[in-house]
Amino acid sequence: MKTLSTAILFCFIILCSFAQKEPVEPYTEEQLGQALFFDPILSLDSTISCASCHKPEFAFADTVAFSKGVGDSLGIRNTPSVMNITYRPFYFYDGKVTTLEEQAIFPIENPIEMHLDFKEALRRLQGSELYNELFKQVFQDAPDSSSLVRALASFQSTLESDGSAPHDQWISGNNPDALSPSQLRGREIYFGKAKCSECHFGVDFTNDEFRNIGLYDGKELNDTGRFAITKDSSDLGKFKTPGLRNVALTAPYMHNGQFKTLEEVIDFYNQPYNVVSQPINMDTLMLNPLHLSQEEKTDLVDFLHTLTDETFNFSMN
Ligand code: HEC
Ligand code: HEC
Repeated sequence: MKTLSTAILFCFIILCSFAQKEPVEPYTEEQLGQALFFDPILSLDSTISCASCHKPEFAFADTVAFSKGVGDSLGIRNTPSVMNITYRPFYFYDGKVTTLEEQAIFPIENPIEMHLDFKEALRRLQGSELYNELFKQVFQDAPDSSSLVRALASFQSTLESDGSAPHDQWISGNNPDALSPSQLRGREIYFGKAKCSECHFGVDFTNDEFRNIGLYDGKELNDTGRFAITKDSSDLGKFKTPGLRNVALTAPYMHNGQFKTLEEVIDFYNQPYNVVSQPINMDTLMLNPLHLSQEEKTDLVDFLHTLTDETFNFSMN
């Protein structure tokens, strides 16, 4: 529907530009990137767009542990949110790329995602009257490898939280009542007893580092994470610390989507050994149980809900 209505809108815009004397506002790089992000044209059988997995209404994450790509192929990692990623130094759970431009090539070519040869993707766009026109408006040229990834990166860079999350409102002093008593207690626990802020801190609640929280045992949990890139044994089982903005919208959680709710996440942090009996290379911060009471766990979950944007346009309409 989205594609159809976008296509109709485009035709309308182009028809208007012939019918009227007044010039139509040219597309911006971000708008072009948005059109591409929502368009299945970049997948082998034209069924999957970036937004099929990065769903706007769930902060651009997915609701299943593993998303389906072309031909119902199943992914091997959980689809992360692509909000608040502009300032990240690494992308993917293992940090295999360092720029959003470089990142965009992977999902297009990945056989379990969009499965389209990148050159073929360009040929398709070059063969499309609509995209030829839009790329000309934005880049003064036909679609090419650098303008395609630049447009996608530019759109994703617009997906920044807007300061409307209750925690932002509270921190800025705009609304001293934005947090409930339970959320305030949860905040204390987050920054204190539960040690969450040792790894999830700063504007976007991430240290931008790779850490091993115990979800690797070399058996059922066999994704080696950062190690696959560096081949350094100290990196075994380390994953990129995700930012926690809008985390209440992005279940399930972790690189393998193994926790369905924030409550399950907190239970895990409270006592990792209850979930993974023999973790390999686990961070020393995780070694001792947190001894959180039921009320403290609830407070912590309540606090995580204060990181959800209240006025961000998650429907993208
Ligand atoms: C079939 C589902 C699927 C599709 C389609 C898809 N992605 Fe993803 N995306 C994922 C998964 C899964 C990951 C995590 C993979 C990993 O870390 O190894 C990911 C990771 C990312 C990341 C890195 C985020 C971070 O914080 O590290 C970005 C950016 C991204 N995708 C953008 C895109 C763009 C742009 C498109 C379209 C060209 C796209 N994705 C299409 C599933 C998908
Ligand atoms: C030692 C560093 C570290 C500490 C301490 C830590 N985290 Fe994490 N957190 C991570 C890493 C790394 C991941 C990603 C792990 C993975 O994907 O397998 C993560 C993932 C998460 C996720 C899942 C996010 C998503 O989008 O899937 C949540 C929620 C979370 N942490 C909350 C917390 C809370 C709450 C605390 C405190 C109780 C905490 N973390 C303590 C490093 C840490």
